[in-house]
Amino acid sequence: MNPPTGKSVLVTGGAQGIGLATAARLAAHGWRVAIADNDAEALAEARAADGALLALHCDVSDEDAVRRAVGDTLVAFGRLDALVNNAGITGAASGPLEALSLAEWNRRIGTNLTGVFLMAKHCASLLRAARGAIVNVASTRALQSESNTEAYSASKGGVVALTHALAMSLGPEVRVNCVSPGWIDVRAWRKIARRDTAPLSAADHAQHPVGRVGKPEDVAALVAWLLSDEAGFVTGQNYVIDGGMTRKMIYAE
Ligand code: NAI
Repeated sequence: MNPPTGKSVLVTGGAQGIGLATAARLAAHGWRVAIADNDAEALAEARAADGALLALHCDVSDEDAVRRAVGDTLVAFGRLDALVNNAGITGAASGPLEALSLAEWNRRIGTNLTGVFLMAKHCASLLRAARGAIVNVASTRALQSESNTEAYSASKGGVVALTHALAMSLGPEVRVNCVSPGWIDVRAWRKIARRDTAPLSAADHAQHPVGRVGKPEDVAALVAWLLSDEAGFVTGQNYVIDGGMTRKMIYAE
């Protein structure tokens, strides 16, 4: 891939995990990178590790905060070429349906789905001007489920549908795609207080058709490609990146 020197990108949830790995990957490829996150401690640690990152404190479910973050990015970089909507409340299980409060449902939908809408809305004119691209981070849970995951699964299914809706509305100037990761071990990419580098079990890895659990770098590489000019004929799509797990037939023996 040719380095897109001078281009700028905003990565939400970029202070930790998949978002931080994506920010690092894009920075290494010459992008100017802003990270927007609601965890001040994680933002400070990310900025300490890479002083070139523009660190923005932002709750993506808050429209005023989103407007400010996009405005600050424009002031710093003068343009916006790409948006990665990665921020999410993780931990899919939210308890039995009968006990799932409306407040918890709204909290998860607010960050995981409404946050994508708000960011796309406020970045749209800048991305159109730059003939840019958006990548949203959904999940294989948009496609398959365990019990007691209604809010998370619905939010991620919404992200897949919102992706193709945005692709129609923002084309031809802006391409919009999403990635749906399976199990990605993000523990080594979290802030120090949440960091964990203990090895996973052999069985954790072996259950995957590719023989291992995913890494944030795997997702970052796919996002980087989808943002690149090499993906210029790709829009509206959902790319599953799960080591083959959603293609594996599982029946109890
Ligand atoms: P993580 O918890 O390490 O990182 C998520 C980041 O989003 C954190 O820095 C957090 O502070 C930030 N965030 C949360 N709510 C926010 C809000 N309202 N506004 C701004 N920032 C906010 O989690 P991870 O695993 O890196 O997840 C990243 C994305 O990937 C999420 O959307 C998640 O649903 C998705 N995903 C992750 C998978 C995994 O196995 N790790 C699998 C499938 C999808």
